[in-house]
Amino acid sequence: MSQAAQIETISTHQRTELRSLAEAAAQRSYSPYSHFRVGAALLLEDGTIVTGCNVENCSYRLTSCAEQGAIARAVAERGPGIRLRAVAVANLNASASMPCGACRQTLTEFGDDQTLILYPGENGALEETTLGELLPHAFRLEYLS
Ligand code: THU
Repeated sequence: MSQAAQIETISTHQRTELRSLAEAAAQRSYSPYSHFRVGAALLLEDGTIVTGCNVENCSYRLTSCAEQGAIARAVAERGPGIRLRAVAVANLNASASMPCGACRQTLTEFGDDQTLILYPGENGALEETTLGELLPHAFRLEYLS
C-alpha cells in the first residue's frame, strides 16, 4: 500500500480520538521541573491504543518523554511484537511541539516510514506528518546484523 493510502485508512474520528487520549494522558504528567505536560497515544496495528505521559526526575537527564513511556507500556502490556500505525502527541501548554529526536528513534524501532504522527501545530491545529519525514535515514535493527 502506498504511504498516502495507508495513512488514509486512519479515519478523522480515529485521529481526533488519538489526540483526545494523548491530552488525557498529559493530565497525568509528572513534570514539576519543566511544567511542560505531555501525553502520547499510540495506535497499534491491532487497533488498540496505548497512552503515556512524561515523567521527570530531579536528576534531569533521567526524564522519560511521553512517547517513551507509552512505548514501554505498550511492550509491557502487549509484548515485543507491537507495531505502530499512528502516534499522537499533545501537551497542555498550548504549545506547538513535535516528538524530540530521541523519541523519533524510539518510535522508529516499532514503526515505519508510513507511521502517521499527529502533533499540535500553531493555534491548536492538529498537524500531521510521518515518521519517515521526521527521521529519514534512521538507524535500524537490520544494521546490527
Ligand atoms: N517531552 C516529551 O515528553 N516528549 C517530547 O517529544 C519532547 C519533550 C517532555 C520531556 C520533558 O519532561 C518536557 O517535555 C520538557 O522537555
